Amino acid sequence: MKKFYITTPIYYVNASPHIGHSYTTIVADTIARAMRTSIGENNVWFLTGTDEHGQKIQRAADAQGITPQEFVDKVSLVFKNLWKELNISYNDFIRTTDERHIKVVRRCLEILHAKGDIYLDTYEGWYCTPCETFWVESQITGQVCPDCNRKLEKITESNYFLKLSIYQEWLIEHIKSHPGFIKPEIRRNEVLSFLAMNKLSDLCISRPKERLNWGIPLPFSPDHVTYVWFDALINYISAVGDFDDAGVYHSDWWPADMHLMAKDILRQHAVYWPIMLRALGIELPKSVVAHGWWLMNDSKMSKSTGNVVSPLEMTGKFGVDAYRYFLLRDVPFGLDGNFSEEAIVKRFNSDLANDLGNLVYRTLTMIEKYFNGHVPVFSGVYTGRAAEIDAKILSLDKEISSCMGNGDPSFGQALDAIWNLIGMANKYVEETKPWNLAKENKTTELEAFIVLLTRVIRNVVYHITPFMPKSAEILTEQIGSEIIRKGNPLFPRIDTKSAH
Ligand code: ME8
Repeated sequence: MKKFYITTPIYYVNASPHIGHSYTTIVADTIARAMRTSIGENNVWFLTGTDEHGQKIQRAADAQGITPQEFVDKVSLVFKNLWKELNISYNDFIRTTDERHIKVVRRCLEILHAKGDIYLDTYEGWYCTPCETFWVESQITGQVCPDCNRKLEKITESNYFLKLSIYQEWLIEHIKSHPGFIKPEIRRNEVLSFLAMNKLSDLCISRPKERLNWGIPLPFSPDHVTYVWFDALINYISAVGDFDDAGVYHSDWWPADMHLMAKDILRQHAVYWPIMLRALGIELPKSVVAHGWWLMNDSKMSKSTGNVVSPLEMTGKFGVDAYRYFLLRDVPFGLDGNFSEEAIVKRFNSDLANDLGNLVYRTLTMIEKYFNGHVPVFSGVYTGRAAEIDAKILSLDKEISSCMGNGDPSFGQALDAIWNLIGMANKYVEETKPWNLAKENKTTELEAFIVLLTRVIRNVVYHITPFMPKSAEILTEQIGSEIIRKGNPLFPRIDTKSAH
């Protein structure tokens, strides 16, 4: 049986979600929805969640004077509420403070420790006491903290390490022999050249409890908690399965078909994670797909720089589907893109109000005016421009599935194909001049014309459903099966003069 398991990163709850987080989740939602249509509702599993341990979270909780648990309960709810507003159809929401997750993380640690892949060693590095941050030699210059510029202290502590280096050759081979494993191509090449140029050092997977409390205790050491990345990556397997007594992992959904994220956390997903799985004897995910960054005035939108835009503010202004549409259409998948409200308004007015909105509104108006709201029937053969449109409708399915399938989603292309059809249909209306057909009582021509436009709209609605689910629902109502119910225009033009 065909199945499709897709994941987003589990986001840190140290601050509220911004446009970047919403983008990954909207992309995943669109793919999940498209896959449900293609392989069946019950064969798709879409996982998202929140990453709730570690120093950043502990510090954020301290700053608010509440316990870490109270803090993470509060912020994970902010994420859930946003996903509800954005119409995100996730199947499961995992939190790293869930009992089911903690249990699997501890089991992974035990298995790797027993196997000898985790060992105890001393860890040398530089510590910034005011920031409570640990730095390794390669991250600093001149023994000062890269964050606050204060003097660092050299410290030595005992920690546990996961052997990465012994798996390096195997990983390179795996990436080379599975061209679809890391996508897009440019990211795959980056990972391969990183692995070719650097010898992997073993990964420190613990933190001393005296320095950090808020984490999953190591099952074999009361003095340590688990490093947050080791803990977090395991969510992808803890959410959908468990180990049996013999230490064999079982799941109906694993391996994941697609781990989706931005390029900032590709190395964790394309280097650490495959090695962790390999060491645990678990199959690797099918693909790790990294998109680009949303920028504000050319710099990355991020919590630490504070140049963030709230998704709710944007959906409040433009509507959920216009926001989804903008994010998916405006930037080619994989590349960075600058965010601006002007760009949303431009897209809104040209693509939604003008192209799609006009086509729907004028077609429905004609059905009301010429056919009393009943969609006519026509079973003849189309010629000329109408035949071209007819053929385009038929080929659209193929065009779109080739853009959406195979783990390299080119949303722009899928939406381009849909908007091409809309453009052809609008041109057809202008050329046909239906008002003349009506005047001259050319009823059959008028019927043929309306039937074709109705088919265009139904096809467009079908294909935009994963991108703009709510609008598709409303349009389906309006263009009903026999009688149309013309409501107000779905995307009324935004007056740019009064907006400024
Ligand atoms: O890294 N543009 O969480 P995080 C596009 N907890 N996407 C962006 C973005 C931007 N400017 N900013 C954030 C973590 N994102 C870990 C993940 S997974 C096992 C653990 C999105 O809250 C993008 O998906 O920092 C990026 O990879 C993710 O948020 C980072 O989220």
